[in-house]
Amino acid sequence: MRTTRQPIGDALTVPGDKSITHRALMLAALAPGTSQVRGPLTSLDARSTARVLRALGAEISALRHGADVTVEGRARFSAPARPLDCGNSGTTARLLLGLLAAHPFEARVTGDRSLRHRPMARIAEPLAQMGATFEPPAERLPLAITGGRLRPTQWTLPVASAQIKSALLLAGMAGDVAVMLNEPAPSRDHTERLLRRFGYIVEAGEGVVHFAPTGRLEPFELDVPGDVSSAAFVAAAGVLGGFEVAVEGVGLNPGRTGWLEVIARMGCPVDVESRGDAGGEPTGTLVVTPTLLRATDIAAAEVPSLIDELPILACLAARAEGTSRFHGLAELRVKESDRLTLLAENLTLVGATARVEGDDLVVEGSDVPLAGIVGTEGDHRIAMAFQVLGLAPGCAITVDDPGCADVSFPGFAATLADLEARR
Ligand code: S3P
Repeated sequence: MRTTRQPIGDALTVPGDKSITHRALMLAALAPGTSQVRGPLTSLDARSTARVLRALGAEISALRHGADVTVEGRARFSAPARPLDCGNSGTTARLLLGLLAAHPFEARVTGDRSLRHRPMARIAEPLAQMGATFEPPAERLPLAITGGRLRPTQWTLPVASAQIKSALLLAGMAGDVAVMLNEPAPSRDHTERLLRRFGYIVEAGEGVVHFAPTGRLEPFELDVPGDVSSAAFVAAAGVLGGFEVAVEGVGLNPGRTGWLEVIARMGCPVDVESRGDAGGEPTGTLVVTPTLLRATDIAAAEVPSLIDELPILACLAARAEGTSRFHGLAELRVKESDRLTLLAENLTLVGATARVEGDDLVVEGSDVPLAGIVGTEGDHRIAMAFQVLGLAPGCAITVDDPGCADVSFPGFAATLADLEARR
């Protein structure tokens, strides 16, 4: 498990932040005039958001790698002629429902097979309380929403979820009504940061988020930082592959950086250099020096701050000294796949020891060679996590659908090849 230290190569960059790209495109679509989103994510999920916003009347330039995006927004959406297909993107579907709740027309919302299995009642129930109607009373997509005049709302989130929180804040924004939310734990606050730019009051603390419709959307320019969740795969590649790696321009929203604390506990502190900010978010360069990994426990309270990094952290735990326990992963069951089950199954399949106990994941680390073909069920983060695990010495892991990384990390195959060459 000890790795040989190699000199640091050129710093890498990762694609634009997925969460911020979705939000920036949505706000720009409703800001009357021309907005510029610089360095956006251009992945399949980002394209899903652009596609549905175009169907609602916004003009959005093509999402192409390396190109900024121009959005011609209109103050209100127009009724879509076709169902709005959100592809694989839960963030697109849920935040969109929040915006549609304030528009007085019927829109049909759907998605791919994975998205049609994901829970929507957590969004539909509070939006119905605000005044939207759903047909059928919505547990899952596809569904039809009819929005209209909304009522102010107070809602207690059943789980710490930035998607639920953001859907309700965006409904408040588009519907010009106050929203008061109680959240069991804080989650990423990209929506709050963006809304404050436009004069909206968003106060957060002590488990409460309070929104007041005091602002107005204006066209804007926004720099999107690199996606910290994508950076986690690159950092883990350095840890497992035994080389130093630096990732520049990474967004460091405090609601997203829990994985940095976890890998520090595992014996591998990540240095943050060149701190700055982009688009109202803190940024920095992450520098990772690989060391011997030791097991850790992840508390349920930490999970919201590393929800998307659990697949790669579980793969790191498989190469750590000792037994790691990840507590309270119920939400992982309703991601792009049932990630909790799929992680345990695939770790076992490649020769590691892992099991699900209730809502916990238990991973026993070892340095035995791991090999096999991982079934991803089209889940981008499962695919990337296991390909990175394959970089560990003696491991030979392939995945059945490497292309699904395009959902969040276009160019992942090229980045992986670059990382492989550094071993
Ligand atoms: C996201 C929130 C998280 C995360 C998802 C993106 C967002 O989902 O897993 O990848 O952009 O708000 P939950 O809010 O369901 O935890």
